[in-house]
Amino acid sequence: MPAAFPIAVFISGRGSNLQALIERAEHFKIELVCSNLDCPGLDYARNAGIKTVTHTRKNFPSRLAQQEALFGAAQQQGVKLIALAGFMQIIEQSIVDAWFGKMINIHPSLLPKFPGLDTHQRAIDAKEAEHGCSVHFVDGGMDTGPLIAQGRCGVLPTDDAHSLAQRVLGIEHRIYAWVLNQIARGGSTFDGRTVQYNTTTEAAAAHEGFVLHGVRMSAR
Ligand code: GRF
Repeated sequence: MPAAFPIAVFISGRGSNLQALIERAEHFKIELVCSNLDCPGLDYARNAGIKTVTHTRKNFPSRLAQQEALFGAAQQQGVKLIALAGFMQIIEQSIVDAWFGKMINIHPSLLPKFPGLDTHQRAIDAKEAEHGCSVHFVDGGMDTGPLIAQGRCGVLPTDDAHSLAQRVLGIEHRIYAWVLNQIARGGSTFDGRTVQYNTTTEAAAAHEGFVLHGVRMSAR
């Protein structure tokens, strides 16, 4: 059994995606949970015996210094990938650059539709028939990085933002761990330009009902 793929999870809030990652980790291991504030989600990490690091903005002269401390902790821990899970700070460009290809995010919309906040209400207002969530690599834009996978659901005539958010959140909890397990076992890769997946990941995505983005790896 190969050593588990070490990751850090960055959060700022309730941490339900973190909890789902803790429960569904098969091929990756959460070595560290980092936060920019003392938030409820950190309890999930503590209860699972996972190390936590919190660095709040007010204790540093700049946001860059604060984020260098936070991301430096992940670097020092030797993680191969950072998973943002409701981390609510804009990340400094130098840090995005340093972690490019090694940092992913989950966003509650079918990107490129509805980047930013209030995605569920905006999907209802736009009379979308479908909504969902996206897992993507992080680049310097707002929810613009290369897509890895999306999970979809219908928007019902009876939906309000709350009911739709709940349905999407259930998909988030499945897809984020699923993507991380695929990356950890080499079934989904990114060379800085193209996201690629292998046929095992492709079959597994079809089984789960997830839509993969990128291109299929050529057979070796
Ligand atoms: C999720 O909807 C995620 O997609 C977005 O922030 C929210 C975090 O929720 N980026 P939680 O803290 O994981 O419960």
